Amino acid sequence: MKIAIISDIHANLPALQAVLEDGESRGVDQYFCLGDIIGYGPEPRECLQLCQDFAVNLLGNHEEAVLFDPVGFNPRARAAVEWTKQQLMSTDFTREENGVLWQVLDAMKLTHTEGDYFLAHGTPREPTREYLFVQDCTEDPGKVDSIFQSFPTQTAFVGHTHVAGVFQDGPRFMSPEQLDGEVICGQTKSIVNVGSVGQPRDGDPRSSYVIVEGEKVEFRRVEYPVEETVRRFRRTPLPENLALRLIEGR
Ligand SMILES: [Fe+2]
Repeated sequence: MKIAIISDIHANLPALQAVLEDGESRGVDQYFCLGDIIGYGPEPRECLQLCQDFAVNLLGNHEEAVLFDPVGFNPRARAAVEWTKQQLMSTDFTREENGVLWQVLDAMKLTHTEGDYFLAHGTPREPTREYLFVQDCTEDPGKVDSIFQSFPTQTAFVGHTHVAGVFQDGPRFMSPEQLDGEVICGQTKSIVNVGSVGQPRDGDPRSSYVIVEGEKVEFRRVEYPVEETVRRFRRTPLPENLALRLIEGR
């Protein structure tokens, strides 16, 4: 059984389509999404539609903001939340068509446990809000230690920072490059960040996700037509910088 764990699509449809094609070519059986399907990007409706049949859909902070209140969002992000909400309630579509999208949001869970894997958007102890940053290993190791104590399994999968890699007890962080693109889980307690499909922030604009098969986790990077996403941004009132950051992957 091959499971693709993806996160932070951020309404970037060309990126999502490229990842699903890559998954298909790799024989992926199931998709687990760790949240932030929407927010920032130009095609929230289309992305929710594509994700509705995934085996697992977790709640991200951007879905939480649309469903409840945009807590901790800067003015630009808040404006993007409002625009996204309008798209999902658009009168260009029927009540039923909109209802399907809201059902996908309503059904999202905070966390999911699959065998020895614990899944959350941000961190296991604060699923939608807390960030586990690479620099926390050196600047706030106590925080990382207590996050490690907060989940019952040997391995957790998260997204939210848009930077892929593996945190291990110590604490220390290893990038996919340092791991030659894969890691075997189960030997030591680990938190795997799967990176972001639609808005990578590690200087590499390609989409990031992982394929899990048993204890093996493979980090994948997938090229997608970034210029096409930028073009689609320009059909919306969303701020230009949200489009331009995709070109540099920042
Ligand atoms: Fe995100």
